[in-house]
Amino acid sequence: MRTIYVIGIGAGDPELLTLKAIRALERADAVIALDKGDAKSDLLALREHIVHAHAPDLPIVTVQDPPRDRNPEHYAAEVRRWHAERARLLADAIRKHTNDSAAFLVWGDPSLYDSTLRIIERMQRHEGLECTVEVIPGVTAIQLLTAEHKMLLNRIGEDIHVTTARNLAKASPKDRRNCVVMLDGGAGWLDGPTHNTYMWWGAYLGTEHQVLREGFITEIGEEVAALKQQLREQHGWIMDIYLLRELDEATPENKPT
Ligand SMILES: C[S@@+](CC[C@H](N)C(=O)[O-])C[C@H]1O[C@@H](n2cnc3c(N)ncnc32)[C@H](O)[C@@H]1O
Repeated sequence: MRTIYVIGIGAGDPELLTLKAIRALERADAVIALDKGDAKSDLLALREHIVHAHAPDLPIVTVQDPPRDRNPEHYAAEVRRWHAERARLLADAIRKHTNDSAAFLVWGDPSLYDSTLRIIERMQRHEGLECTVEVIPGVTAIQLLTAEHKMLLNRIGEDIHVTTARNLAKASPKDRRNCVVMLDGGAGWLDGPTHNTYMWWGAYLGTEHQVLREGFITEIGEEVAALKQQLREQHGWIMDIYLLRELDEATPENKPT
């Protein structure tokens, strides 16, 4: 039976690959990668760089991501169809190009806003792919954000809320006290801040383009929105993440930790 290694490769810096991840790369017959044909060529190049740095002879098999209707009449049905087609193509590639093991490289960690494990489950259930799965954890974008800002995610004993920009509007005031926001196509921090909302923001973390900003939304919110737009135009893509924290009126010096 094949082994599928699902390898978290860290969220930007190739040096964040773990020893365990390197060992798995050395054992795999091939890396199977979905080619999403998007503008994130820096990211694709980075993946190739990682593979070649640690396992120079390991083949990378790319599978063209099947087309998807972005404005379907039935959204959920279209996503299901698209996922099924993806699973079929990937299972075919695994059968054709590997004997004992295949590796999927996952940006950051496989447990955080990533569909690789879901696709593999689908390949096992619906495509008859017999395999055991080994997950190798990776350093997430959240950890890069806190490390680069040299900060803690929470103050003593507080909860941490992790969400997407789409869901931020639904976050309760309690959730917004320490709120990590990912997958923001715009400038979600501008929706509903108070005059006490502080933000630690990071884009292209761990890469040569990394940019950091921090401050009260009322002071830096618009400027960071303009900067994000400018960076996106400059590089053709952007990935950013931020922590929003409601500072206490009485103890604003509570800011960093
Ligand atoms: C599909 S999620 C994948 C998260 C990934 N599995 C992880 O563990 O970090 C992509 C989101 O992660 C965040 N992200 C990932 N890498 C990043 C980076 N290098 N710099 C800033 N944000 C990043 C962004 O919020 C982006 O929209």
